[in-house]
Amino acid sequence: MMMRRRVLLLLLLLVAQISSNDDVAIAISTDFLFGTASSSYQYEGAYLSDGKGLNNWDVFSHTPGKIIDASNGDIAVDHYHRYLEDIELMDALNVNSYRFSISWARILPKGRFGEVNLAGINFYNRLIDALLLKGIQPFVTLTHFDIPQELEDGYEGWLSPQSQEDFAYYAEVCFKRFGDRVKYWTTFNEPNIQVPFGYRKGLIPPGRCSKPFGDCIEGDSESEPFIAAHNIILSHAAAVDIYRTKYQREQKGIIGIVIQSLWYEPISNSTADKMASERALSFNLNWFLDPIIFGKYPSEMQEILGSSLPKFSSIEKVKLQKGLDFIGINYYFASYAKDCIFSTCKSGEGITKTEGLYLRTREKNGVPIGELTSIGWPIYPQGMEKVIRHVKERYKNIPMFITENGYGETDNPNATLEEHTNDVERVQYMEDHSNAMFSAIREGADVRGYFAWSLLDNFEWIYGYTRRFGLYYVDYSTLKRTPKLSASWYKQFITKHKTEA
Ligand code: NOJ
Repeated sequence: MMMRRRVLLLLLLLVAQISSNDDVAIAISTDFLFGTASSSYQYEGAYLSDGKGLNNWDVFSHTPGKIIDASNGDIAVDHYHRYLEDIELMDALNVNSYRFSISWARILPKGRFGEVNLAGINFYNRLIDALLLKGIQPFVTLTHFDIPQELEDGYEGWLSPQSQEDFAYYAEVCFKRFGDRVKYWTTFNEPNIQVPFGYRKGLIPPGRCSKPFGDCIEGDSESEPFIAAHNIILSHAAAVDIYRTKYQREQKGIIGIVIQSLWYEPISNSTADKMASERALSFNLNWFLDPIIFGKYPSEMQEILGSSLPKFSSIEKVKLQKGLDFIGINYYFASYAKDCIFSTCKSGEGITKTEGLYLRTREKNGVPIGELTSIGWPIYPQGMEKVIRHVKERYKNIPMFITENGYGETDNPNATLEEHTNDVERVQYMEDHSNAMFSAIREGADVRGYFAWSLLDNFEWIYGYTRRFGLYYVDYSTLKRTPKLSASWYKQFITKHKTEA
């Protein structure tokens, strides 16, 4: 009975999709990438296997009190051992790309000053080769939040300019070893999330913040986020420089960076609130993209932060000219932004000078900007279209990929397998967001791919295994993967668009 209902629902959704997307065919090209995304720490497990060194997340997740269900990524979803099975699952979805990250500590267990770990290289060789055999393009992130612990212990990671050289060294090892087969590279995943959470709120590694924020390593929340960001931006530039000068011509790949973006709607029509929403974008998305593309920080940041914002020296400006080939956008939800320059904001996110002087709020007059998912993220597909439009306009339509988009839900440990896999809401979410993307493409945005987060349920950072994002349900006691309704939907969706392209 349940099964019949699911099939019927899927059919209804497909009919709705076909009728709403009739004119999409002209919009996307045959090499448009449809994929799923993952990251090494959230997926691989095998945290001590085959010579891998400890990374910052291994150490952090083993520190009591840091992860809400006291879990860690020691095993995660055991992708390290089950990658072949997982590639079969991808193949079943008909995807033509897989976004994954390389674990730096698996390649260089001691950061820069150690040997290259051949067992680590071999793992990624096997993964890449197996993907290509199925016609699935590897789309590789060099760092998705995890760095060798050695770099934190040795010189405080991204707070030190030494990180630039070391990241470039690591990136070159990857270009040299994998670049004959990897044609899509990204340097960083969501540095605009990693930095404020790691150096302002102290919630993720290296867990630094100023008092009175609480349980964190003593840092300076005012200055450190900007120092870390500066080093990350220059590390990106250093890696791109090496790729451009030594590898790109022969290997013929492209390189970019992945940024997370919320969309910020002004809470009112006032000019001040409209400016607040623009400022919010500047203090988040443009913070990293402006320097890489224009060689300087956004003007709003310069005006508010003045001399406390690091400056790019003339040598660094030259390095930044290597730019990028594409922008990866991770989009999940939206917020309202309210001005805090001309009006007083007592408490909340975004309100300090270092955050941008706007109040980030999900509600206007008590009504959320979109229906809330069980993890409290408001659903706002229009935001995806608006973020794409913003990037298109500000950065002259540089090619874009939606490197992540997906529906997260709180795990219900009492739910049956049927209930877990009947993820109607996820299907609706992906349908609405892909339509928003198509609409931006029809308007001329150069979007070249869409990656669902995520193939499998997995380790969701500080939330451990309490949040599920997968197209496949993972039973964490057996690690068995079971397709959800969204997996069949995604397969049909991809097949339809591939035939029409
Ligand atoms: C963005 C991050 O890149 C990914 O690691 C995370 O799991 C998803 N968003 C969902 O929160």
